[in-house]
Amino acid sequence: MTTQELTTKDAIEQRHSIRKFKNDRIPEEHILALIEAARLAPSASNTQPWRFKIVSDEETKLKLVEAAYHQSFVGQAPVVLVCCADLHGYFEGIAARSQDFGKEGALEESMVRVLRERAEQLKTMNVQDLAPAIAFNVAIAVEHIVLRALDFGLGSCWVRMIDEQKIKEIFGWSNAMHVVALLPLGYPDEAPAPRKRRTIEEILLD
Ligand SMILES: Cc1cc2nc3c(=O)[nH]c(=O)nc-3n(C[C@H](O)[C@H](O)[C@H](O)COP(=O)(O)O)c2cc1C
Repeated sequence: MTTQELTTKDAIEQRHSIRKFKNDRIPEEHILALIEAARLAPSASNTQPWRFKIVSDEETKLKLVEAAYHQSFVGQAPVVLVCCADLHGYFEGIAARSQDFGKEGALEESMVRVLRERAEQLKTMNVQDLAPAIAFNVAIAVEHIVLRALDFGLGSCWVRMIDEQKIKEIFGWSNAMHVVALLPLGYPDEAPAPRKRRTIEEILLD
């Protein structure tokens, strides 16, 4: 399998959602390089709540297809990443990291105090209510994977149309694990035309 290091601009422009994959196996080291790209993503207070389950066995992939409202292309990908947020880890992390920031001098002392207060406040909240906010961090890490995948000639497609409860049941996960998306990955067997985008004028606010 060839590796080609693309510029960020190339990767952004060449990425399209891929829903048809070749059968070819993805080398393990390339999958690990993708996880490494996720690992380096930024996160609120450096909490790094992302967790990934690598699925390549046919039986589990079929269950994921069912949990994705029968989007069959999910099962045709040689690898499906189940992209999650560890909600409890995030809570614990945010308190611990506010201390680190103080020590590293990355934030002003007044901001460290604000962070600590916020961490205390968060503890009084229902963690499930915070799931969408925590999922933001995971989305950034997933997009790192999507773009890095192009260096290995791999295509992918974000899949959010999922029954989260069903996915948690497949793996026996508690509610502390929030499933953010599935990411089928494989060598493209299609070359879709770029999908229409709004113009710059349309997205810039006055
Ligand atoms: C958060 C998110 C959720 C998505 N969910 C699905 C999905 O469940 N099934 C699917 O086929 N495509 C899904 N997509 C892909 C979008 O349809 C696609 O990104 C969009 O149409 C633009 O096309 P492009 O990615 O080729 O530029 C999703 C994309 C994002 C970012």
